[in-house]
Amino acid sequence: MQVIVDKRKVVEDKKMAETVRVLLSEADVDKRIEELGRKISEDYAGKHVHLICILKGGVFFMCELAKRISIPVSMDFMCVSSYGDGTASSGVVRIAKDLDETIEGKDVLIVEDIIDSGRTLSYLIEVLKKRNPSSLQLCTLLDKPDRRVCDVKVDYVGFNIPDEFVVGYGLDYAQKYRNLPYIGVVEGVE
Ligand code: IMP
Ligand code: MG
Repeated sequence: MQVIVDKRKVVEDKKMAETVRVLLSEADVDKRIEELGRKISEDYAGKHVHLICILKGGVFFMCELAKRISIPVSMDFMCVSSYGDGTASSGVVRIAKDLDETIEGKDVLIVEDIIDSGRTLSYLIEVLKKRNPSSLQLCTLLDKPDRRVCDVKVDYVGFNIPDEFVVGYGLDYAQKYRNLPYIGVVEGVE
């Protein structure tokens, strides 16, 4: 009995020690998304852009970005999971939820939270190309170029960041912190 109580105390202590250091403030992120929205509106002028949000991490970014795009927008959602240990992707990608609508003949812009090894997106881009979109581009809020294993052409990048595990603005650590309105680094975890 005593042992169980002690173990619980250790877990609680670790939780208390977990903090998030701000890497990019809410104002930094908002400003950059505004710039991206303007650039996308210019680049796609006269067209209709079909945004594909990669769930779950891309959802906060896509909502904010879509609000700042001044040309016609439609949206769809896809959920992909890569079998990994939570902080590193394994390269094996599974489509957990596919798109609701066809992308054939559409100007598709994939909206992703972060490109790390590039494995998820290089796989996804190949899958989506086969569905004959009129064009296919990629927009990511964050990019960790130092971590790249697979070559991925990123058309729009919010911020290049160093090789640190980040949370907030849709990004999670063990499903936590997605709702933070800024990007931070979790500290105090093993
Ligand atoms: P990739 O296949 O290695 O490029 O991994 C991409 C996915 O891993 C992202 O869409 C995220 O879901 C997750 N990921 C990679 N780096 C981080 C991070 O620093 N914080 C949270 N999730 C991350
Ligand atoms: Mg993601």
